[in-house]
Amino acid sequence: MSDNNLFEKIISHAKEYGFVFPSSDIYGGLAAVYDYGQNGVELRNNLRQFWYLSMTRLHANIVGLDSSIFMHPKIWKASGHVDGFNDPMIDNKDSKKRYRADVLIEEHQEKIRQKIAKEVTKAATRFGDSFDETQFRQTNPRVMEYQERIDTMNGILKTALESGDLNQIKELIESEGIVCPISGSKNWTDVRQFNLMYSTQMNALEGADEDLYLRPETAQGIFVNFLNVQKTGRMKLPFGIAQTGKAFRNEIVARQFIMRMKEFEQMEMQFFCKPGTELQWYEYWKQWRMRWHGVLGTDEKKLRFHDHVKLAHYANAAVDIEYDFPFGFKEVEGIHSRTDFDLSQHEQFSGKKLRYFDAEANESYIPYVVETSIGLDRLFLVVMSEALQEEEVNGDTRTVLKLPPALAPIKCAILPLVKKDGLPELAEKIYEALRFDFNTFIEDKDSIGKRYRRMDAIGTPFCVTVDHDSLTQGDVTIRYRDTMEQERVPIDSLREIIEAATSMKTLLKQI
Ligand code: GAP
Repeated sequence: MSDNNLFEKIISHAKEYGFVFPSSDIYGGLAAVYDYGQNGVELRNNLRQFWYLSMTRLHANIVGLDSSIFMHPKIWKASGHVDGFNDPMIDNKDSKKRYRADVLIEEHQEKIRQKIAKEVTKAATRFGDSFDETQFRQTNPRVMEYQERIDTMNGILKTALESGDLNQIKELIESEGIVCPISGSKNWTDVRQFNLMYSTQMNALEGADEDLYLRPETAQGIFVNFLNVQKTGRMKLPFGIAQTGKAFRNEIVARQFIMRMKEFEQMEMQFFCKPGTELQWYEYWKQWRMRWHGVLGTDEKKLRFHDHVKLAHYANAAVDIEYDFPFGFKEVEGIHSRTDFDLSQHEQFSGKKLRYFDAEANESYIPYVVETSIGLDRLFLVVMSEALQEEEVNGDTRTVLKLPPALAPIKCAILPLVKKDGLPELAEKIYEALRFDFNTFIEDKDSIGKRYRRMDAIGTPFCVTVDHDSLTQGDVTIRYRDTMEQERVPIDSLREIIEAATSMKTLLKQI
């Protein structure tokens, strides 16, 4: 499948098999808002659970939190979101489409990177075993010129974003000859700032109180509860607080399916540590989080670190973990060393001390923070992109979702071969016995082949077929999704087989 085809296929597969629906579908949908269907919600819950357990159970010093979406409006003043949570936007006058100016530039750079990759592949084929990629990149004039262009753009973009010089960004778009992907024209408006927070009122009376904001990140809920958790949990530094929950952003460019949504879910962990140790922990979390992605079966060649060109107002180091989606490398997770910025700001704005008493050093200080922040919906898209495959089987095409078994929405399908002779009744008994342990499915409609294919398409790792021999011999045929191999096993052994392959524990132990 080509990348474009794969992306289209993921979107249509997600809808057809009950993973993701456009929100308010019968009313024509709502831009950049999506609903998760019967299989999507299971996969998403499993991903969330895997993240939460890996953070909390595998780290004795990390605990959970569930803070509210509504928070005191001053929080967003303190965090810098009211004044600084802006994106630079630009409109194309011909297509009337709006873009994030920095994203237009980044996508343009990605195209140049692809040109470099082409040159490297060509040279590697030409030189064979003697090919030295590093040397080639450092000496080939064309590649050097491309790289220099990218670096210059990065430099200009960084300075422009830091100084808020929006004209410079427009000049860069013009000098690079970047065109609108829809109209193909260079007829751009000026670049303007756009705040991404949604506001609402707490009370019915308009004007009765300050605007509330729907939280644009879950992290602030952790910061403002830092002392509550530290004191009640008697936590010693370093320690972390993890939470998952909805966040809302009025994204200018909301496309690419669940990649960039207006309502989405984040899974964030703030790791509080002693000032001066933060860059060590930053390095630790970078490596740990990359390993975590590997355990989900994500092809390691499709994952990379990408250092931030522009550091956010709160960070002294920041990196993204990017995945090579069908539309190119894009951020899935951010790891940020946020210094003591947030806690200091909340101390100042609330007038309450947010200090940690270090008994060993006999002093109080504001801890530094390293954050790991991943979007659940983007992770969902990574997992779908990796798992969705088409295979030729006996001249036919099989669509299969090769999800890690622990993440699969349904772990096991119980399928009576025919709808008579007591087979449905035995199937029902097996289903009853397994459904307390696993998300189990039972179905007797259609041919067994069609039922297998439907289970392949939603990623069910095991199909159990109940036939006439099962009635007398107490065994069934178990079919493995990935190999399609079938094996005769005693009914009594099913729980153990499924448990061994699908439990979260198996995945957690691999990190
Ligand atoms: N607390 C830090 C923070 O919010 P971020 O890089 O803005 O950092 C973290 O967001 C993660 O949240 C991203 O890596 C991405 O996976 C996810 N995310 C951000 N905006 C999103 C959107 N509009 N739709 C889906 N996921 C989004």
